Amino acid sequence: MLVIHSQSPEGTLSIGRALGQVLAPGDFVNLNGTLGAGKTLLVKGIAEGQGVDGAQVTSPTFSLINEYHGENILYHFDLYRLDRGEELEDIGYEEYFFGSGICLVEWGDEFRSYLPEERLDVRFEPLGQSERKITIQGWGPRGANLERALGEALPCTYLE
Ligand SMILES: Nc1ncnc2c1ncn2[C@@H]1O[C@H](COP(=O)(O)OP(=O)(O)O)[C@@H](O)[C@H]1O
Ligand SMILES: [Mg+2]
Repeated sequence: MLVIHSQSPEGTLSIGRALGQVLAPGDFVNLNGTLGAGKTLLVKGIAEGQGVDGAQVTSPTFSLINEYHGENILYHFDLYRLDRGEELEDIGYEEYFFGSGICLVEWGDEFRSYLPEERLDVRFEPLGQSERKITIQGWGPRGANLERALGEALPCTYLE
């Protein structure tokens, strides 16, 4: 498990960029934490790390899913407004969650039984106005590799 401290929105963006640079096709990132914790901002950094213009990244709260094209195809979900897992089945979630794009899913914990077992779990805890504790746990061999690669890529000032 990686425990990271971000002191500012810019810090979270650069952590996201580092993560974006180690993600590969088929990877899945499950992001959780209260509203305003920084999930969408981290996704913006990840997208930039994948060569996407960050200005394209907006919260898919109403659209459910946004798609960005960089070095790979990124699918950005926000499941906050989803009531039932059946709605995921209606949109054919398997094509996204188990396909060859990269999935970045906000509020995935609410629908954990639908998520791939091999993934990265990211949890945000706000510590005051501008500090965020970000805990990252990789599951499965690929998840463990991602966790290690990110730990090596991040400046140690971020790491607990
Ligand atoms: N260290 C930080 N990391 C991320 N966001 C921060 C931080 N400090 C303050 N913020 C602010 O918190 C908000 C995070 O918003 P957002 O990323 O949309 O959250 P979420 O997607 O989790 O609801 C932004 O307004 C951002 O400026
Ligand atoms: Mg969000």
